[in-house]
Amino acid sequence: MAEQIMAKGLEGVVVSETSLGFIDGQQGRLLYRGYDIHDLAEHASYLETLYMLWHGDLPSGEQLEAFEARVAGARTIPDGVVDALGSLPRDANAMTALQAAVATLGSFDPDSDSNEHDVELAKALRLAAKIPTVIAAFDRIRGGEEPIEPDPDLSQAANFLYMLTGQEPSDVAAKALDTSLLLYLEHGFNASTFACRVIASTLADLHSSIVGGIGALKGQLHGGANEKAMRMILEIDSEEEAEAWVDEALDQHRKIMGFGHRVYRTEDPRATHLRRMSERLSEDLGDPKWHRIARRVEETMLDRKGINCNVDFYCGIVYYTLGIPLDLFTPLFAAGRIGGWSAHVMEQHGDNRIIRPRAEYTGSKNREFVPIDER
Ligand code: COA
Repeated sequence: MAEQIMAKGLEGVVVSETSLGFIDGQQGRLLYRGYDIHDLAEHASYLETLYMLWHGDLPSGEQLEAFEARVAGARTIPDGVVDALGSLPRDANAMTALQAAVATLGSFDPDSDSNEHDVELAKALRLAAKIPTVIAAFDRIRGGEEPIEPDPDLSQAANFLYMLTGQEPSDVAAKALDTSLLLYLEHGFNASTFACRVIASTLADLHSSIVGGIGALKGQLHGGANEKAMRMILEIDSEEEAEAWVDEALDQHRKIMGFGHRVYRTEDPRATHLRRMSERLSEDLGDPKWHRIARRVEETMLDRKGINCNVDFYCGIVYYTLGIPLDLFTPLFAAGRIGGWSAHVMEQHGDNRIIRPRAEYTGSKNREFVPIDER
């Protein structure tokens, strides 16, 4: 029998090969299929990067146009999904609603059960196109408003903001959201991607795998941190109070949301872009107060604990400044990560072995059964 290793939280354990994402936690490097995240964030769009992740290479202008048209043509969601969203309680958790909607979309998908590569790729495109529509429709319905039909002439990010508010966003706002989705697209074997791969490894279908990924992302130690980080910043009244707030939170052994990472030992390279975007957007569109408070929180965390912020910290401020409701922050993370999740499901199905680790049993091994009338 092979030697058994016990690693709580699977820290440092390599469970599979992947050619999708590479993270160098010491150097703070993140690559999507060999492309540096800094180059992609500065020069590419979300859909351009998604095409590359799914197909292996960056698209030509013509390929990108055709891909964008296919995504734009697949954004509408079936009436049954709108009805399912409408049947949820008004105060339903947005991530739970997204799980329900993705499961329902699976029931409507004509190829729901097929794991054949080309079919799975087409399903992934439909799902990536529809998730923003689901999130916007959920928000409109709970507010007593009709969902807004997607506009095929708008980009993925601009169309989401349009469906949410009924107003076409500025180029700056659309670009900021688009880049955040790109930064959220792929990140190796994080908890939600691993959850998707575990489910896919049983040969369950794409939609079932994604529903599991959304469940894992919901937690505050993972995707839930972008919402929690912003709620935390809103607790701090001013820049001057930030330092004392952090000290008090650390004294109470509270975890500061949006800080720390299992893999990065230096700055999360995604945070570099989100900090910049947060600063620019706060000055252009919103109130610079929140960005300034965040800066002081970041400086204090580095000084007291030497812990860097992660992708979720400044993303909270970016989304808040864009006027997005707080509880839609994590669903938007899912709207970006859907591309990575589905790429991993396809990679898993392409070279599958069921993922089935073992646990070290710590219970008793020799208990005597006592019949019920003698207990
Ligand atoms: N605030 C305060 N202390 C933190 C911290 C944070 N956000 N993140 C890590 N630490 C401290 C821990 O208290 C621990 O200190 P100790 O050794 O004195 O007990 C040490 O750093 C290691 O943290 P640990 O939670 O064991 O690391 P992990 O690899 O298991 O967890 C995270 C990584 C991301 C789950 C963790 O950093 C965290 O909970 N962060 C906040 C949530 C978050 O932002 N998640 C999004 C991740 S992208």
